[in-house]
Amino acid sequence: MITIPYLTALTTYFSYGLLFVFGQFRDFFRKIVDWWLGSNLQGYAPICLGLEDFYTRRLYLRIQDCFGRPIASPPDSWVDLVERVSKDNNKTLQRTAKISRCLNLGSYNYLGFAAADEYCTPRVIESLKRFSPSTCSTRVDGGTTTLHNELEEVVANFVGKPAAIVFGMGYVTNSAVLPALIGKGGLIISDSLNHNSIVNGARGSGATVRVFQHNMPDHLEKVLREQIAEGQPRTHRPWKKIMVLVEGIYSMEGELCKLPEIVAICKKYRAYVYLDEAHSIGAIGKTGRGVCELLGVDTADVDILMGTFTKSFGSCGGYIAGSKELIQYMKYACPAHLYATSISPPAAQQIISAIRVILGEDGTSRGAQKLARIRENSNFFRSELQKMGFEVLGDNDSPVMPVMLYNPAKIPAFSRECLKNQVAVVTVAFPATPLLLARARICISASHTREDLIKALEVFSKVGDLIGIKYFPAEPDKQQQDEGRVKLE
Ligand SMILES: Cc1ncc(COP(=O)(O)O)c(C=O)c1O
Ligand SMILES: *[C@@H]1O[C@H](CO)[C@@H](O)[C@H](O)[C@H]1NC(C)=O
Repeated sequence: MITIPYLTALTTYFSYGLLFVFGQFRDFFRKIVDWWLGSNLQGYAPICLGLEDFYTRRLYLRIQDCFGRPIASPPDSWVDLVERVSKDNNKTLQRTAKISRCLNLGSYNYLGFAAADEYCTPRVIESLKRFSPSTCSTRVDGGTTTLHNELEEVVANFVGKPAAIVFGMGYVTNSAVLPALIGKGGLIISDSLNHNSIVNGARGSGATVRVFQHNMPDHLEKVLREQIAEGQPRTHRPWKKIMVLVEGIYSMEGELCKLPEIVAICKKYRAYVYLDEAHSIGAIGKTGRGVCELLGVDTADVDILMGTFTKSFGSCGGYIAGSKELIQYMKYACPAHLYATSISPPAAQQIISAIRVILGEDGTSRGAQKLARIRENSNFFRSELQKMGFEVLGDNDSPVMPVMLYNPAKIPAFSRECLKNQVAVVTVAFPATPLLLARARICISASHTREDLIKALEVFSKVGDLIGIKYFPAEPDKQQQDEGRVKLE
């Protein structure tokens, strides 16, 4: 739950209202002109959804210079952004030859493996020569190299499960595995803020999907009890199986999952737990083993561990880890294993090498240092932001920290002003967040130095004063804060 200052809620609604009304007016005149010119009367329905893309045309296009900025370097702590210009009020953007070197606070490069690494990079290059960029084949045909087998063993061992299966993409791991795990007659209970890949996987499975309030174990229990009593729709037969879907760290909230409580409830009602560790694996826990390690949950109590290699490991792809039977079944039944080209061998090698570094198997303590660094950096940055009066969401130890902006006008203002000061940030708004809750999403990396973070804080402080996003100016006192604020679930 989050509370918003009344005035901010009011001005935010007002801004969106104004944008909406003006947009509708312009659309109306546009329609008349189109009708007059007879330009789109060829018997086809519009392929790009006419009115439905209102939001894109009238809101997003105005500020699209803040999104999709091309980069010309690795997504390391500093990144080369390609400057763009527009001749039509940012409706279309053209790349220029100019580069702007910026401090990168947007990439999921938690452990700094996105940049060239003394241990990983030579091995990746070697694997590129020995294998190739692609296996040109699915896993069951010619697409299983020795690297793929090794990767699955290394991953299973790292996350603490008997077996693992890997896929070429994290998104596909969720969206293709869920339908293979559960189907009609099954019940999925999903956190309200789960990632789109989980939502699509759940929908595609054909199971009944119920949602529980974000990270609220009490509400999960309520939904479970109701659904178990109710049974399947119409027939009221018992559910064939029940699966609860949660994430380790919520990527737009920076929050840790209340895993111990959720696991206890699932055990009580015999529901399977499916945990997406995209943002938590590698990034948190004493040895980087994610949210189970950090919160002291036995991995044996989480039935299905899912994660991606696109964040802490600086590669691509995703995994599912679980019992030997489950993984063997996935290898027979999951379409993304049977019909999709296997993960690129150099990407597989990058993951294996990164895990070796994390475990100290490269013979150095670099992995342990990275883990200590990301924790220190995250906690330092979060507490400094709070001291300055920013409204920061999420938990300690989480390297993801959303800074609330609220007003639509503050989204481009924050992004552009930071960019002018050589700081690249990611801003997120509807539909990735609720309409009122636009934010900047900061990702801290182990590769940020203390000077980097101090520079970012100086820029944020300046920009924060300029655009008025220090919503907690005085020393925050929780009781006082909640007065004069609207509650939003
Ligand atoms: C929780 C979660 N699951 C899955 C994914 C998809 O992973 P990938 O980007 O590796 O395809 C993401 C991506 O950001 C994510 O945040
Ligand atoms: C277009 O984007 C630039 C920054 O890239 C910004 O300064 C300018 O104000 C934008 N123009 C409009 C009309 O929004």
